[in-house]
Amino acid sequence: MAFDRVFLDELSARNDIVDVVSQYVQLKKSGANYFGLCPFHNEKTPSFSVSPDKQIFHCFGCGAGGGVITFTMKAEGLEFPDAVRYLAARAGMQVPEQGEADRKAARHRERLYALCKDAARFYYDTLWKPENRVAQQYFLGRGLHRRTMNRFGLGYAPDSFHALLDAMTAKGYTRDEMLDAGLLSRSEKGHVYDRFRGRVMFPIIDVRGNVIAFGGRVLDDSKPKYLNSPETPIFHKSRNLFALNLSKTTKSGYFILAEGYMDVIALHQAGFDCAVASLGTSLTEEQARIIARHVGRIVISYDADGAGQSAAQRAIDILKKCDLQVKVLRIPGAKDPDEFIKAKGADAFRALIERSEDHNAYRLEQIAAKYDLEDDEARVQFLRDAARMLAGIESSIEREVYAGRAAKMAGVTAEAMNVEVRRELNIRKKKQKAAERREIRSPVGMAQPKDRTLAYADVKSAKAEENVLRLLFYDQKLAVGLEKELPPAWFSAPVLRKIYERVLALDREGQMVDILSFEGWLEANEMSLLSAILDQGIPPGEHRQEMQEYINTIRMQRVRDGTITEAGEDPLLTFGRIKKQNAGGQTI
Ligand code: CTP
Ligand code: MN
Repeated sequence: MAFDRVFLDELSARNDIVDVVSQYVQLKKSGANYFGLCPFHNEKTPSFSVSPDKQIFHCFGCGAGGGVITFTMKAEGLEFPDAVRYLAARAGMQVPEQGEADRKAARHRERLYALCKDAARFYYDTLWKPENRVAQQYFLGRGLHRRTMNRFGLGYAPDSFHALLDAMTAKGYTRDEMLDAGLLSRSEKGHVYDRFRGRVMFPIIDVRGNVIAFGGRVLDDSKPKYLNSPETPIFHKSRNLFALNLSKTTKSGYFILAEGYMDVIALHQAGFDCAVASLGTSLTEEQARIIARHVGRIVISYDADGAGQSAAQRAIDILKKCDLQVKVLRIPGAKDPDEFIKAKGADAFRALIERSEDHNAYRLEQIAAKYDLEDDEARVQFLRDAARMLAGIESSIEREVYAGRAAKMAGVTAEAMNVEVRRELNIRKKKQKAAERREIRSPVGMAQPKDRTLAYADVKSAKAEENVLRLLFYDQKLAVGLEKELPPAWFSAPVLRKIYERVLALDREGQMVDILSFEGWLEANEMSLLSAILDQGIPPGEHRQEMQEYINTIRMQRVRDGTITEAGEDPLLTFGRIKKQNAGGQTI
């Protein structure tokens, strides 16, 4: 744990979750909980709840959940330690010195930063060796000036399995450090070797100027075209933007969001000092929040192909959530910004930016492109389609403006268009209400975690596992001696097992089992699941008896799938015996 528990207790006592959330959300009390509109997704009826007793929040709509620190991380776009500092400042508290484990982790990260910097230097030096003309020529052939190449620290990884390994070993780095930094790979037999070989190298640099990862491109058409560093202790792909270190100081007031390394580099060379890329993945919410911290406007400039355009549509939604003014640029006659600038020059690109459309106009154009607006039948279809899109616009003024434009495109009166839009708005409202009702009523819908990556393979067992956790959070005394009766290995859901193991460990160490002990320790999606589980509350009853029933259910499932047989006993017999033990008790 990053911070001392006594400090965290004080921090959480002085930052009541209801107070903190109220800074962002208008809350209304209803029963034991408070409700409001979820700040993490768009909704019209409140499905966001805050429990003052449990000090958790949970949204039935999007599934987000956690304690006060998780809330602050999400709302302010902060990492765990920074969210803690933020809350400490809010409560006028001093943040204590970190423990030894943290100092060690921080030292390790410092080593990885130094290593990546040295590796970048090595790739750079290698590029400019006379024998690597081909690699130099590759960049120059793509129109890059030497000055640009230096500015981005471009390099070359020689076609060798150990060139980097040798060079970094000579500088005193260990294999483990190189593996941790993602610079080496390990074969199935356990041999380690250079991850990047025979590739031109693009260092990825964080906002503070540290080299944290690399992208490497082949010189020909072989596959994969780009190879990137894996996630490491210093590199989280979803939280970084390529070239943010350079673009953060732009005076332009906006960013250009491109797809690729080469697009961004070509844009900077052409004088657009505000270009960034989302590192190959589709844009994440974290990246959008980072953008919103630096600028108020963004111009999406993705590839002209279908993949690029649908990525743009997704990016619009994510960027809008962060209150950014979003425009979309279309690149006529070229595949991407890099090619366009090479063919037509910087001024032509500047003209494209000036002419770039508001995202609503862009969407309308995308829809119109599907229909032949000369044809009456197609025009009706277009109006329907456009109305559906227009109904999704939050602001009524904006909606009106673009409805007018759509009407003009189809050659109908604004009145006619508005009728169509109003109808779509009604349908939308009804659908939303129905979905919300379903969500709350359907036990089947709640059987699986909202996040599909955490899906339960054995729902019956997982439900009992959830109940075990809920009881343990409610009454920690139930943890005494539990490990023997219910070994963690019997848990079917890895995420629930992970939580259970920590509950047992906390209890062994005499620590409190509560949401606070899990903040910053669980991933965001895991934290959301835990909050959903705890939010359900504890029905009154004999808890020790209930616990026994859950244990029996889990055990039975493990006998069923062959994980356990009782000391030489026939699994069927074991099964029958447990079943008998359970008979008479309530079904679970
Ligand atoms: N990308 C990746 N892995 C791949 C392909 C692409 O990580 N196998 C990422 C890279 O960041 C790349 C971006 O996606 O820059 C866009 O892909 P693409 O359009 O194929 O790359 P370009 O930058 O256009 O590549 P180039 O011009 O070098 O051919
Ligand atoms: Mn390209």
